[in-house]
Amino acid sequence: MKISIFHSAQAISVYITEKIQQLLVENVGGISIALSGGNTPKVLFQYWREHKTEVEWQRITFYWVDERCVPHSSSESNYGEAKRIFFDHVQDYNIRTCFIRGEHNAEDEVSFLNKKVLLSQNNEMPEFDLVLLGMGNDGHTASLFPNQMQLLNDKRIYVTATHPETNQQRISLSGTVINNAKNVFFVVTGADKSSILKTILHKKDNWESYPAAHINPPKGNLEWIVDDAAWGE
Ligand code: 6PG
Repeated sequence: MKISIFHSAQAISVYITEKIQQLLVENVGGISIALSGGNTPKVLFQYWREHKTEVEWQRITFYWVDERCVPHSSSESNYGEAKRIFFDHVQDYNIRTCFIRGEHNAEDEVSFLNKKVLLSQNNEMPEFDLVLLGMGNDGHTASLFPNQMQLLNDKRIYVTATHPETNQQRISLSGTVINNAKNVFFVVTGADKSSILKTILHKKDNWESYPAAHINPPKGNLEWIVDDAAWGE
């Protein structure tokens, strides 16, 4: 596991983009990246929009780590927000996206996706080149919440989940697929994440009760990419 600490979200965006450029050099056939939602990645999407000529987007297939079961027009939609901030502004790159249709019946969409997600397989599970994760201050990641820990080991690619406070229905990659990735980056910024980050990274208190603590790809690279505020300095 590697921990990289940066002074700003902008510096994090530069770093992640450079890592993607490096992956593209190493993988002539192109790469697969799974994107998370929430607020943290929006800085990265904005950076990509402003630096769109610097990456061979046409060699990337984008998937989503999770989605809220809402229409893409909703500001709650992970794909919808990524589309409005970034993908709508790089249409001439013909980027391949495999987004989650939040407006569809969740179980039907999970069944559809679990047939559609065709990736290089490793031990019979899709192997993403890169999974970008965030973390909630309750230690959830993707839409894997502390009250649904069984989803960490679900053998399916995508699963349905429920937000424990809002009861909002979600669709999420299972922990099994995330841990099958070649590279997993947690991107965590802001002082409000400092406590949970310390608990998980230093294995303090009840650290094992948090889903994010169980993400560690046995054959892949795990990197925590954090800002000073989250790191607590
Ligand atoms: C989602 C995300 C989720 C997110 C964390 C952190 O759909 O909300 O995939 O796992 O990464 O909740 O969210 P913030 O970046 O908004 O803090």
